Amino acid sequence: MFSLNVLIMATNYSHDIATAFLAVSGVAMWILSASHPAVGARSSDEFFIASCRSVTRIAKYSLIWILAAGFPRIVFYETYEWNDSAGDLQIAAIIVKHIVMFALVGAGIYHWARLERKTKKPALLHGSIGN
Ligand code: HEM
Repeated sequence: MFSLNVLIMATNYSHDIATAFLAVSGVAMWILSASHPAVGARSSDEFFIASCRSVTRIAKYSLIWILAAGFPRIVFYETYEWNDSAGDLQIAAIIVKHIVMFALVGAGIYHWARLERKTKKPALLHGSIGN
């Protein structure tokens, strides 16, 4: 029978899966912008802009999911994930890991916003109005 415990466990791990989705979306945006030609045809701009929008949508949902699943994860951490052999040091490890995660997500959001601004003004895509 489906139990609440299994639901909590699945929600906990979905936090990691959503992180993977976010990371892959970032890589996809990177590849898309790197392979978009500096001087392109209108069709290539349209493809680029449509792809960016789809990837951005996936990234936004992933980030919302990460944050939503993060809260139950921290509430139930002691019951479901606490490891006695790691002791109190695991709390420091969680904090350090999340400082790194927040820095990476922050850097991603910064570059994403710049790219999004360009997709809204296609003239910017080819560097004709600054980078
Ligand atoms: C952009 C935001 C976040 C990202 C990218 C992120 C990413 C991750 C990742 C990849 C893990 C797995 C680490 C591992 O297994 O070694 C993790 C674990 C965890 N996250 Fe997050 N997280 C974020 C935000 C949050 C928030 C807001 C909370 C709580 C309110 C939270 C609570 C936890 C907890 C309790 C764990 C389990 C402990 C651990 O292994 O570190 N996270 N997170």
